[in-house]
Amino acid sequence: MFTALPAYPEDAILRLMALYRDDPRKDKIDLGVGVYRDEAGRTPVMRAVRAAEKQLWQDQDTKSYVGLLGAPDFANAMTSLVLGTLGTGRIAAAATPGGTGALRIAFDLVALSAPDAAIWLPAPTWPNHESILAHLKRPVHRYRYAAQDGTLDAAGMLEDLSAARAGDVVLLHGCCHNPTGIDPDRAQWSAVADCLAAGRLLPLVDLAYLGFGDGLDADAAPVRMLAERCPEMLVAVSGSKTFGVYRDRAGVLLGLAEKSEQATALRSALAHLNRQTYSFPPDHGARIVTMVLNDPALREDWQVEIDGMRIRINSLRGELAAGLKQKTRSDRFATIATQRGMFSRLGLSPRQVEDLRARHSVYIVGDGRINIAGLNAGMIPTVCERIADVL
Ligand code: LMR
Repeated sequence: MFTALPAYPEDAILRLMALYRDDPRKDKIDLGVGVYRDEAGRTPVMRAVRAAEKQLWQDQDTKSYVGLLGAPDFANAMTSLVLGTLGTGRIAAAATPGGTGALRIAFDLVALSAPDAAIWLPAPTWPNHESILAHLKRPVHRYRYAAQDGTLDAAGMLEDLSAARAGDVVLLHGCCHNPTGIDPDRAQWSAVADCLAAGRLLPLVDLAYLGFGDGLDADAAPVRMLAERCPEMLVAVSGSKTFGVYRDRAGVLLGLAEKSEQATALRSALAHLNRQTYSFPPDHGARIVTMVLNDPALREDWQVEIDGMRIRINSLRGELAAGLKQKTRSDRFATIATQRGMFSRLGLSPRQVEDLRARHSVYIVGDGRINIAGLNAGMIPTVCERIADVL
């Protein structure tokens, strides 16, 4: 039976992780996969997470099942983190294995409730969006997003989205667009929200980097704006980066219904989809996140730590842009300083990316995406020199 299986293309980001691991060169630099690293190159367990885990280890007296939608206090804590008090009574939430689990359930939900709806993806987007939708054989369209100069192609985006059919789904990166780091500004978000509302399009927001752009509330502001203007919405929230619990797979899918009766039906559909897909969502990471959000002291400490991560990334952005300007004597990298989140694209060709890896042991994704959070101040001059060398 298994002889009929085709060879699946390896995920480019995961392949790069393996190549890096197997590279014996001492001066290798990993700017590939999107995990946060501190100045010493570690992906730390956040202080509040460690404290909550210690407490959970002492207090938890059962590992029995929780529920198909996960724990209600996790759903409530994540809903209020993302939406504040907006949409109260109209929200259904399902805990999921990470943000990808939430996306998968969201795509399945669309297939259940609107089988003909197309899903619009930004060009470019996280490759796994494309790959999951291809796996599910869902109709996909792409809308213009990133302009050549590293800014938003707002006019192209709005023109493309105006051509979508009522009921189509528009996938948006809530903040810290992956892979470009290009986010709409407030006025552009407002125009996008109006366009979606006017066209009766359903926003599906992928929110995987909350807190890494301009701060927790600033990063949640676009989602909140969409919730105020669009009657229905889906938000796939990942706890991986925001709480540093990557491997614990803490995610949630939030669904905003137009009316509270519909939220009840939505909740039942989400429970059904969870049951068909993996039965119960994992609880450990979700429990830790809930403890952090619901304990004032832990929550404050977590906010201080995530603010520190964000400030560090944004200062690395400034240093990298300045270093590249100096080494290349050009302004082509200036937008790195104003883009947000972990990623930017350097605009390198696949050949230059390969050259960077082969000759200089610098690992970045094939489309030229660089993980800014993988840098540290000390390595910036070297990285700039190596990038300048392959140009
Ligand atoms: C990334 O884009 O590097 C992360 O979201 C990790 C992943 O699963 O691809």
